Amino acid sequence: MKEKLYEGKAKIIYDIGSADTFLLEFKDDATAFNAQKRGTISQKGPRNRDISAALFRYLEGKGVPTQYVESVGEREMVAKRLRMIPVEVVVRNIAAGSLAKRLGLAEGTPLKRTVLEFYYKDDSLGDPMVNEYHIRAMDWATQDEINAMSDMALKVNDCLSEHLKGHGLKLVDFKLEFGVDRDGRVILGDEISPDTCRFWDLKTNEKLDKDRFRQDLGGVEEAYTEVWRRLVTV
Ligand code: TMP
Ligand code: ASP
Repeated sequence: MKEKLYEGKAKIIYDIGSADTFLLEFKDDATAFNAQKRGTISQKGPRNRDISAALFRYLEGKGVPTQYVESVGEREMVAKRLRMIPVEVVVRNIAAGSLAKRLGLAEGTPLKRTVLEFYYKDDSLGDPMVNEYHIRAMDWATQDEINAMSDMALKVNDCLSEHLKGHGLKLVDFKLEFGVDRDGRVILGDEISPDTCRFWDLKTNEKLDKDRFRQDLGGVEEAYTEVWRRLVTV
């Protein structure tokens, strides 16, 4: 028995009659540019579920609390119920995407230090960039929660950059979302996948992520499958 609670652009959340958990279904639907571009990527849901599960398990082992409980079926994940903080936390190691455009940098320019950014999660506003003052002023998170998100995001960056390098992938940048559990703990939520990260091949810099869909580069399904092959099957 499962009841749909909410359908987002890439996932559906179902109530499964538990106070502590719900079910996340990973869809094949893909959107970009605040849903102005829409499509489907065959097998994206199962790939992203597997990749997220593998990376959440890896991060748990490194001491980062995540919402992951278990994988079920082909494209579903049992996850802890959290009160989600409506802020996207972006971490960047190399200039790409919106940073390259905004600051006029060539894509691929290494950054002299890691960049941390916050965006308010609201499609109707185009997910505007915000800072800690906005987050506090709007009461989206407390200072302690902002500090916890920042510390965890930088730790995730250190752990994942190293881990991915071992699998032939460069972690260019990524987006995380956090929630708060009933005990007030900040927990890593949502997903970590080629939808939410830029992964480049370590040797060739070939893009192996959603930029292939955003920029119509072709080989989209193949890229997701290649990341899945490297992170889940080996
Ligand atoms: P950006 O360069 O477009 O700002 O994206 C930075 C990172 O955040 C990139 O790895 C893709 C990810 N991202 C999302 O997960 N969701 C989004 O809505 C956007 C815009 C970016
Ligand atoms: N997922 C985002 C959207 O459709 C954008 C992106 O990932 O580029 O709004």
